[in-house]
Amino acid sequence: MSGIRRETAADYRAVEELHRNAFWNVHVPGCCEHYLAHVLRKHPDFIPELDLVYELDGEIVGNVMYTKSELLEESGNSTGILTFGPIGVAPEYQRRGIGKALLEASFDIAAGLGYPAIAIFGDPDNYVARGFRSCKRYNVCLEGDIFPAALLVKELKPGFFDGRKLVFRESPAYEIQERDAEAFDAGFPPKEKAFRPSQETFFILSHSTIG
Ligand SMILES: CC(C)(COP(=O)(O)OP(=O)(O)OC[C@H]1O[C@@H](n2cnc3c(N)ncnc32)[C@H](O)[C@@H]1OP(=O)(O)O)[C@@H](O)C(=O)NCCC(=O)NCCS
Repeated sequence: MSGIRRETAADYRAVEELHRNAFWNVHVPGCCEHYLAHVLRKHPDFIPELDLVYELDGEIVGNVMYTKSELLEESGNSTGILTFGPIGVAPEYQRRGIGKALLEASFDIAAGLGYPAIAIFGDPDNYVARGFRSCKRYNVCLEGDIFPAALLVKELKPGFFDGRKLVFRESPAYEIQERDAEAFDAGFPPKEKAFRPSQETFFILSHSTIG
């Protein structure tokens, strides 16, 4: 079997192993995305319809998960939007269009569910080709008028962003404790933590804002 489908409970461990392999030493020495996948599924903001796997000859080689997030207007009005993450593709299958296929399938489902937009923290290199733009272009910021370089936004409903200021609030589902992730990781085979230059790129990007 090959193609994109919803994740089932039988896939959970394979998906967690996939994220562990995809993210290991990429952003920090080791990673916590496999633990994040493990806890996200149980959170009320998790969206099962948008929990997609890419299966290749019976093997799970990609996964994307989504949560509900919010955009707040100055008037206090709030609109429910989406955030994805983690998204991971098995290292030996990266850069072959699997991430792209997962995202495009998820955008169609997300639009069908009626969500007007997606906002994520991510590397623009991975997402501008998928229609994401800087948050600054749409006047979407964090509390305190902060426009992070990594905050990227995609419109699903054309014209949804009309220049009014919107404050992005991510789901608390992403607030995980490092020690809990470490304890969860102990249940997987040992894997060496190491420095990679991508960790410095991640540090720079995740501490940068647009003026
Ligand atoms: C990021 C990731 C999910 C992308 O999935 P993928 O299957 O490898 O990516 P794709 O082959 O679908 O390419 C997606 C886009 O990445 C970019 N891309 C592809 N190859 C690239 C390369 N060598 N260098 C930089 N960007 C590249 C392009 O924008 C491409 O889209 P395009 O072909 O339409 O221009 C995957 O590489 C991964 O799991 N990486 C490790 C974990 C991670 O960093 N996750 C994302 C956290 S923000």
